[in-house]
Amino acid sequence: MLIIGNWKAYLDAPEKVKKVAAAGKRIASGTKQVELAVAPTFTHMGLLGLDKRSKLKLAAQDVSDATGQALTGEVTAASLAAMGVTYVILGHSERRARGESDAVIAEKIKRVLAQGMVPVVCVGERERDEEAQYLREVREQVASAFSDLNQKERLQLVIAYEPVWAIGKSGLEAASPQDLEEMVLYLRKLFSDFLPGKANQKVRILYGGSVDASNARTLVAGTGIDGFLVGRASTDGKSLAELVKAVS
Ligand code: PGA
Repeated sequence: MLIIGNWKAYLDAPEKVKKVAAAGKRIASGTKQVELAVAPTFTHMGLLGLDKRSKLKLAAQDVSDATGQALTGEVTAASLAAMGVTYVILGHSERRARGESDAVIAEKIKRVLAQGMVPVVCVGERERDEEAQYLREVREQVASAFSDLNQKERLQLVIAYEPVWAIGKSGLEAASPQDLEEMVLYLRKLFSDFLPGKANQKVRILYGGSVDASNARTLVAGTGIDGFLVGRASTDGKSLAELVKAVS
C-alpha cells in the first residue's frame, strides 16, 4: 500500500518540518506493508535529507508546466528530479480552485514522466447530486489525464480520488467505504477506455479526504484502493504513526 502525506502549507517552522520528517523516517523503516512518502513545501524539501533510495520517499505538491526558462517563481520537473523526488501530486483540488485547468495538468503530467517521476493525479467531484452528474466531472478529469499519453506512460499514473466535499474535515466526514468501492469500479471502467484488457487493474488508486487512524482500516477493507493521500493527519508524527499502524 502507498501512503503519501501532503503537508500542504500546514508547517512553517523548519524545526517542526524536521521533527515530522524524522518520525516519517522511523515509520517508513518500521513497516513492510506501507510505502510512505511525504510532500513538504518546495522550500522545505532540502531539509529532509531524502533521495530516491531513501525508505521514506520524497514527494512534491505541484510542479511547473514549463521547462527551465525565464519564468520567475516556477519550479521545474527537472529541479524536483534533481532533489530526489519520486512522486509529484498534480491537479489537487486546492490548485484547481485557483484556476488550474485539465489542460495544464496534462502538460504537467508529461513533464513529470519525462523526468522519471510518478505523477499522482488528483480527481474528484466538488459535490454529489442525485442525478449522478458528478460522475461526468470525474470522467472528464480522468480522460484528460490519460488521453495524450502512450500505454507505458498511462500505467505509471497514480490516480488519487479526492472528493472535494470530503477534504479537510473530521474522520467521520470522509467518503463512505461504499461510495469508495463504487468509485473505484467506475474509475477502473474509465481507465479501460485507455488501457486494453486487464491493464486497467494495474493503475494505482489512492483515496484522499479526511483520512486518519480512525477510518483508514475501514476505508481500505474491500474497497479496492491501493493507498491514501493524507493531508492533516500526516502533519504530525504521532497521527502519522497511528495511521500507518492502523493499516499494517
Ligand atoms: P485531508 O487532505 O486529509 O486533510 O482531508 C487530503 C488532501 O487534500 O490531500
